[in-house]
Amino acid sequence: MKKMRITVVRGPGTDGATWHRDYVVPDLRGASVSNVLQYISRHVDGDLAYYLSCRRGMCAACVVRINGRNEKACVVEIQDGMIIEPTNLRLLIKDSVVHLGMPTESEFDIGRADLLKRAPAQSS
Ligand code: FES
Repeated sequence: MKKMRITVVRGPGTDGATWHRDYVVPDLRGASVSNVLQYISRHVDGDLAYYLSCRRGMCAACVVRINGRNEKACVVEIQDGMIIEPTNLRLLIKDSVVHLGMPTESEFDIGRADLLKRAPAQSS
C-alpha cells in the first residue's frame, strides 16, 4: 500500500522551541490538508493540535503555512512531502494553532517592541 510522508512543525516545547515531526500516513490523495491533520490526530498522534471551523474555505480559521505559503488547510489538497507549519510563531499556541483574536496588552507591547527594533534609526 502506497504511503505519504507529511512533515508537521510541532511545539512549542517547554523551552519554547518548535521541531519538525514526520508522519507516514496512508495515501490520502484527494483529501484536504485539514483532513490529513485530523487523520493524524485521530489515528497516529492524538497530541497533535489543529484548528478547523467551516471546512469550506470561508472563515480562514484553518490557515497554516504549507510548503512556505499561507493557505486554507481545508481547501488545499494534500501532497506527499508537504511541510505544514504555523503561520506565525509569535502567536503560536500549539502546533499549527495560532492566536486568532486581538492580541492581549502584553502581546501588543511585545509586538510594538519588535517594530521599534526594526524601525530605522532617526538622525538628529
Ligand atoms: S475551516 Fe474555514 S476556511 Fe478552513
